[in-house]
Amino acid sequence: MSPITSGNAEQYRDSRKLAARARLHTEYTIAEIDWFPWIARQLPLDAKASVLDVGCGPGWFWAAAAAALPEDLHLTLSDLSPAMVREAVERCEPLRFASVNGRQADAAALPFKDASFDAVMAMHMLYHLPDPAQGLAEMYRVLRPGGLLAVTTNGAGNRRELYALTTVFGSPPADPAAVAFRYDTAERCMRAQFGNVHMAQHPARMRVTEPEDVFLALTSYPPGDRADEATLAAFRDAIADAFRAGSGVLEVSKESGLFISRKTA
Ligand SMILES: C[S@@+](CC[C@H](N)C(=O)[O-])C[C@H]1O[C@@H](n2cnc3c(N)ncnc32)[C@H](O)[C@@H]1O
Repeated sequence: MSPITSGNAEQYRDSRKLAARARLHTEYTIAEIDWFPWIARQLPLDAKASVLDVGCGPGWFWAAAAAALPEDLHLTLSDLSPAMVREAVERCEPLRFASVNGRQADAAALPFKDASFDAVMAMHMLYHLPDPAQGLAEMYRVLRPGGLLAVTTNGAGNRRELYALTTVFGSPPADPAAVAFRYDTAERCMRAQFGNVHMAQHPARMRVTEPEDVFLALTSYPPGDRADEATLAAFRDAIADAFRAGSGVLEVSKESGLFISRKTA
């Protein structure tokens, strides 16, 4: 089991560790349009559609994108973590949706009937599954014919300048999410399940100016979150060297993409 498919109960007990990583994106990403609104603009959703969000996390997408989405959507927010479901429902209930329901659920065995949703979303979560193809098969099952699946994940080169620093922990110099489920994996698995897939990459990069934010993000998950003092000191040195080399700035590449498949009608 890779680190990203184990230890998730602790990692996602609530949204705090996820927030440390999200802060890097929100503070330092340079893009014409932010990630969540960019996704929302490309979703071919109809008004009143019933949408299942698998691995919804704290529901940040819906809060950020509500204004860009069609009216009267019926949302079902599901996550393995009950605290994430609670937080997502609390966040989304006051927003402009026709209905909001929460359901604790494992993506590998969705507790919903066949053909019960017009759309399913699985954003930055399939890399947590020991068998992503099984999760995709479940998403296919609960979609009505003609319904769409939207998946997001990272490319192999995502934030490589940051992950080069995590070799101090003995980690490979690569985004662990992309190691488990990168662009070509998403493309292959979705095409195998649906027979079609369309991909687009968010045009964005990062310009990080605060070394401490790099430290907090990269020590928010294993193995950095359990490193000893000496390793953490070496990690701080590596971060300081990288910022020095960039005259106080760390330029970081981003590769995050949206994949859409449609279930044949
Ligand atoms: C990186 S967060 C992404 C959250 C949200 N989709 C977003 O894009 O902001 C991954 C989420 O997947 C959830 N998750 C992990 N394994 C899961 C599983 N087997 N079934 C359902 N959710 C899972 C975690 O609890 C966490 O909330």
